[in-house]
Amino acid sequence: MKFFLDTANLDELRKGADWGIVDGVTTNPSLIAKEGIPLEERIRQICAIVDGDISAEVVSTKFEEMVPEARKLAAIHKNIVVKVPLTRDGIKTTAKLSKEGIRFNVTLCFSSGQAILAAKAGATYVSPFVGRLDDIAQDGMTLISDICQIYRNYGFKTEVLAASLRSPLHVAQAALAGAHVGTLPFKVLDMLFNHPLTDKGLDQFLKDYAKAFQEVGTR
Ligand code: G3P
Repeated sequence: MKFFLDTANLDELRKGADWGIVDGVTTNPSLIAKEGIPLEERIRQICAIVDGDISAEVVSTKFEEMVPEARKLAAIHKNIVVKVPLTRDGIKTTAKLSKEGIRFNVTLCFSSGQAILAAKAGATYVSPFVGRLDDIAQDGMTLISDICQIYRNYGFKTEVLAASLRSPLHVAQAALAGAHVGTLPFKVLDMLFNHPLTDKGLDQFLKDYAKAFQEVGTR
């Protein structure tokens, strides 16, 4: 499973990249707005930190404007994956420009039927939102396994990018369901490290080691 960081914050990206386990980055207009830096400038900065697929999302909603915006974003860096919403215009843009070699992440996917549209349009990634379905009392994780199964049935090349993952449990469940990628807020990536038995075991190892060598030293 590839791990992407779902953030536009450079400190978080540097920390994650430093661990050597981050394969890419996803951003969206809300995450960019939170940082207060114009989209293209922030995307260039992100590309300099993480060498992997970087999703940059369009803010146009109409096909006629989405196409030039997608081309402009894709031209920023070879690692850019243009993110478009799962709308008629987003799918039409994906179908047109993926034939030219531009890669797309179709986002805001909330049903298996929508995921089929993204695959048929030639998207590199589809982003089903797990947490936001859980928020409305629908099982977000079932959607991940359903899409994985449907893509397997037909040999679709589109990768399932599990998004809106809110906890380490979500990450493990998405992996179990077969998601190719999980995009994680930094906090969730950080939480994945934690286990009380790891801390307890390490503490014991170090105490035993120190004790043994102290004893050898005093003989
Ligand atoms: O990048 C989109 C997605 O991951 C958002 O997550 O927690 O705002 O639903 P969330």
